[in-house]
Amino acid sequence: MPDKVAPIPLPEPRTDSDISVEKTLTMRTSIREFKKTSLTLSQVGQLLWAAQGMNRPEGHRTTPSAGALYPLELLLMAGEVEDLDPGLYRYTPEEHHLIPLLKGDLRKDIATASLDQAWVREGPAILILTAIYERTTGKYGQRGYRYVHMEVGAASQNLHLQAAAMGLGTVAVGAFHDDKVNALLHLPNDEHPLLIMPIGKPH
Ligand SMILES: Cc1cc2nc3c(=O)[nH]c(=O)nc-3n(C[C@H](O)[C@H](O)[C@H](O)COP(=O)(O)O)c2cc1C
Repeated sequence: MPDKVAPIPLPEPRTDSDISVEKTLTMRTSIREFKKTSLTLSQVGQLLWAAQGMNRPEGHRTTPSAGALYPLELLLMAGEVEDLDPGLYRYTPEEHHLIPLLKGDLRKDIATASLDQAWVREGPAILILTAIYERTTGKYGQRGYRYVHMEVGAASQNLHLQAAAMGLGTVAVGAFHDDKVNALLHLPNDEHPLLIMPIGKPH
C-alpha cells in the first residue's frame, strides 16, 4: 500500500433512535456467534463514533478521558463491510474518517493470535482498542495506567450498548498474545492493544 492513502469519510452518525438506554442495558450480553451478514459503512461508522467519536464542538468524545488526554486509538479490521475493502483502518475522531493501514482480510490471523478463539474471526468486522499510555502517564505518572484501563472499559461498554441498539452484538476479547497482535497490525512501539471486539449480527 502506498505511503499516502486517501482517508475514507464515514456517514454522519445518528444521535437519536427509538430504543432507550434502559432497553439496551437489558439486552447487553456477550455475543460469540455471528450471522454471515455484512455490515454497512454506516453501521461501522456508528459503532466507531459510539466508542471514540466526538460529541461536542470542543473535541470531547462519547467516552470520558482523564484530563481529556485521549490515550485510546481505535482500529477497524474490516472483513465483510459493504463499500470497504477488507483490511485494517485507523479511526480519526476529529474528521470521522478511516485511514487505510493494511490491505487484506486479517481476521483469521488475529483469531490465531487470540488463542484461536473462533468468534474473533467470525464477525464481519472487528474493532480493536489500543492505547498510547504516554499521553496519560506523561501527566499522571503511574496512576495514568489505571486511568487508561478505566477508559477502555467505558469505550467497550459504549460499543456493547450501541451494538445492542442496532440489533448487533459483540464481545470484549482481552485474551491474546500482545507480541503477535503488535506484529500483525504493525503497531508503533508506543501503541498497545487492549481489547479486540468482533461485531456482527447475533446468530
Ligand atoms: C476485560 C475483559 C476481557 C474479556 N476477555 C474475553 C476473552 O478473551 N474471550 C471471551 O470470549 N470473552 C471475554 N470477555 C467477556 C466475558 O467472558 C463476559 O463479559 C462474561 O462472561 C459475562 O458475560 P456477559 O458479557 O454476556 O454478561 C472479557 C470481558 C472483559 C470485561
